[in-house]
Amino acid sequence: MITIDKSCFVLETERTAYAFAITAQGLPRHLYYGPKLPDYSALPIPQATVGGAAFIEGDQPESMAQECSAPGWGDSAPYMVSLVLPDGGTACSFRYVHCERSDQVPQGLPHAQGGETLKIVLKEQSWDVYLELYYTAVEDAIVRWCRVVNDCGEAIRVRRLLSAQLDLPRGDYRLTTYRGAWAREMTPLTQPLHGALVWDSSFGISSSRCNTLAVVSHADANEHEGSVWCTNLLYSGGHYGCAHESPFGRVRLVQGMADLDWLLPAGEHFDSPQAALFYASDGFAGARQAMHRFVERALIAPAWQQAPRPIVVNSWESLYFRLSRAKLLQLGKEAAAIGAEVLVVDDGWFIGRKDDKRALGDWTEDEKKLPGGFPRLQADLKKLGIDLGVWVEPEMVSEESNLFRAHGDWILGHRNQAMGRNQFVLDLGRTEVQNHVYESVARILRSADIRYIKWDMNRCLTDTFSPALPASRQGEIAHRYVLGLYQVCRRLTEDFPHVLFEGCASGGNRPDWGMLCYFPQFWCSDDTDAEARSHIQSGYYAAYPPSTLSCHVSACPNHQTLRTTPLHSRFHLSCFGLLGYELDLTALTREEKAAVREQIALYKAHRPLFQFGQFHATLATGNELFWMLTTGQEAVGVHYVRHPQPNALPTVLHAAGLEGGASYTVRSVPQAVKLEQFGSLVNMLSPVHLRQGSALHALAGKVVRFEEKPLALTASGESLMAAGFPQVSRFNGAAFEEGMAAMGDWDSRLYWFEKV
Ligand code: GLA
Repeated sequence: MITIDKSCFVLETERTAYAFAITAQGLPRHLYYGPKLPDYSALPIPQATVGGAAFIEGDQPESMAQECSAPGWGDSAPYMVSLVLPDGGTACSFRYVHCERSDQVPQGLPHAQGGETLKIVLKEQSWDVYLELYYTAVEDAIVRWCRVVNDCGEAIRVRRLLSAQLDLPRGDYRLTTYRGAWAREMTPLTQPLHGALVWDSSFGISSSRCNTLAVVSHADANEHEGSVWCTNLLYSGGHYGCAHESPFGRVRLVQGMADLDWLLPAGEHFDSPQAALFYASDGFAGARQAMHRFVERALIAPAWQQAPRPIVVNSWESLYFRLSRAKLLQLGKEAAAIGAEVLVVDDGWFIGRKDDKRALGDWTEDEKKLPGGFPRLQADLKKLGIDLGVWVEPEMVSEESNLFRAHGDWILGHRNQAMGRNQFVLDLGRTEVQNHVYESVARILRSADIRYIKWDMNRCLTDTFSPALPASRQGEIAHRYVLGLYQVCRRLTEDFPHVLFEGCASGGNRPDWGMLCYFPQFWCSDDTDAEARSHIQSGYYAAYPPSTLSCHVSACPNHQTLRTTPLHSRFHLSCFGLLGYELDLTALTREEKAAVREQIALYKAHRPLFQFGQFHATLATGNELFWMLTTGQEAVGVHYVRHPQPNALPTVLHAAGLEGGASYTVRSVPQAVKLEQFGSLVNMLSPVHLRQGSALHALAGKVVRFEEKPLALTASGESLMAAGFPQVSRFNGAAFEEGMAAMGDWDSRLYWFEKV
């Protein structure tokens, strides 16, 4: 709800309120962002008399919380807007003109759906240049963006147009940002918020190096208590965010796209992308849940909200580039037998693609590998009861390709640029390139009944030069690229609404809220090791709900870490997201195939819970985690232990998201206890000596079976959440008793909660 009372504006969301006012001098002064209040008439306005400060007719911008800022404003904190005016001046003084309700969204950019929008119009004092600030209250978010309108009759330049600014009162804050690299995305970094801390990407993509998300928390905030503010961007290109502590302790957050140099002719306007701000008084869990709801209800396209996602088998980690029709059909047969629903033909299917040095751009099936192409493959897979999915990387071109030979001038940057994965980026700012990229994918989709596209992007933007634009406009290229990308994504998703698009960029190199507006899910990481995924997924859950995270069970030893983890742990972690398999199914033993079949059956039986349940994390130590997913009716938890300790007390697990007054049965899912797991220890009991690894040892393993006794108890939701319940009884270094769980490294158990 938006309330306008004289010159005071209050935006209320489900649980929060955001307030600002216009000062007598026409400056938008920030007043409050916190829990909803019964009234907003007496909000404090802390303002120091700052010695040596700059004044605007009595207002002291440096000591004032503001809604936007620009150079020359009398404020030393990072600014939100930077323009070069016709006389070359960069000092801008924007003053309030009027406000209105609006349904405007940024042009050509992704945006949140729904909510109520307020538009505040400010005018530069000396020039007819306007700054429009947009605020949308939607779900539990305040979505902000802005527009510069040039009515001054001469061209100006936009050097910076960030999306949001949030000035917080003095306090003891922490800043958490999410950093990483290829195959180790989303590692949280929490720092005391002093000085200036930056989170950004200068590589033209939102990037695995530093995600767009930032979380500011009071020093005393924890999982369930305390004040937390978050900001995240709906943008897929380079970005910039800064948390800055002023000399007076006030904290300013600014966030938006990376700086640029955009020539804005007279009569035109320029839009920033949207940023979404969140406040939660109930700690990190509250903020996370608000963000998950926002993503699922305001960002994901309506047709995909709550739409069950298929279980895929992807060819990459089983066949790599060596795929063929025969191998794919074999994989498809196995995929159908275990209950998977889509076979995704990953990289390697198009003409000339025998390794990653060539052929990107030539999106035609290689007849030698795939005789009859996708139409024939799809028809054969259909007979097996499985759909076809296809991997593409259409933003790229290899030097050794027909596309490059025909259109070498379509690349972004110079030929001698720093390369990534032996490929160039196509200049998506150009209309003819956008049309070509659209057609390359549309042709594939028209050729056969393809239900799923994995859209990859495997290098960053380094040299953002385009011969298609004059020297004076080269500073626009990186943003034009993103606008071109969105244009193509929009057309494809509108024209092929039945196709599920999964975003990917060497794993999580572009996993942002902008892409999610078009592609409802993404491949989180090229690291498919369960242990690595336990960290990577933990990072993503901060702002990305399980329904957006594509998580696959892969082979062991794992192809990225060479680590061997139990098959059930790989499944338990993958099913807290969109389950898939990415391994050579033909190489699995009969026992493993049966286990995988059971896993898929379990996942299918509870698909709405696994994909759209509310996520909770009640335990996250260096050694263990406990995640839960809940719906009104059922709940599931996974307890994952990295290295079990001998002679340790059982961990008490705390549920979350249950109904306090309801009664629940809790049941663990037992795993097979294998004799082999005990190695030479079996000789303590065996009547004959069993040499570890010998045929006799293996034979004994087939004959002697132990049953793990499931944990089973009934308690109130209140008790399970407040007092908790013990993990299954497990072997911990002393005597093994009948029914104990034999948990080794990287081991896990699922717990089911059912209302009674
Ligand atoms: C990227 C993706 C992988 C796979 C390969 C194929 O690395 O992240 O999943 O598709 O490309 O080249």
